[in-house]
Amino acid sequence: MRVFIYSNMKTLIIYDSVFGNTEVIANAIFNGFENKEDTRICKPDGFTPDLLKDVDLLIVGSPTRGFRPTKPITDMFESIESDSLKGVMASAFDTRVKLETIKSGALRLIVKAGGYADKTIAKLLRKKGATIIVPSEGFFVTGNEGPLYDTEIERATQWAKDIVSKFQAEQS
Ligand SMILES: Cc1cc2nc3c(=O)[nH]c(=O)nc-3n(C[C@H](O)[C@H](O)[C@H](O)COP(=O)(O)O)c2cc1C
Repeated sequence: MRVFIYSNMKTLIIYDSVFGNTEVIANAIFNGFENKEDTRICKPDGFTPDLLKDVDLLIVGSPTRGFRPTKPITDMFESIESDSLKGVMASAFDTRVKLETIKSGALRLIVKAGGYADKTIAKLLRKKGATIIVPSEGFFVTGNEGPLYDTEIERATQWAKDIVSKFQAEQS
């Protein structure tokens, strides 16, 4: 007889947002997690390290600003002790502009070379001991202040569902 063990996946989503677009994506990701009782969402100003207690999955997101996450996100990582994310699965996301919408060729090259917030966040997650469960993801705004492209909310919810599937596959 095969015994299925239902594993609760305690999830924390931490995000920052200046104009509100990353917040929309963070909420869409929240909606992708069916077990709402075990899923919490907060901004860095609502974060305290005790929120990490018993967390199985940590998702961190930020707008890309100057190729990097915002200061509240990097400050939040500084408040987390080394190795405190050991045993935690994690991934990162950001919002960003599409390269092809940047008119100046020179600026396009600079933005491309500069990279995006998701990679920095993923690096910080690993540095604190987390294991990256799925590759980080970028979601696109139509301009600095948004709005998001129509496709992005659904894509974010699907990204979260993919994480749940991956998590469950790793547990079985
Ligand atoms: C000061 C500033 C710097 C930015 N730098 C970048 C960048 O390096 N790369 C990029 O793709 N988008 C950049 N953007 C666009 C932001 O990614 C966009 O404003 C953000 O996704 C909107 O998210 P929010 O509404 O959650 O603040 C920048 C925007 C501002 C205002």
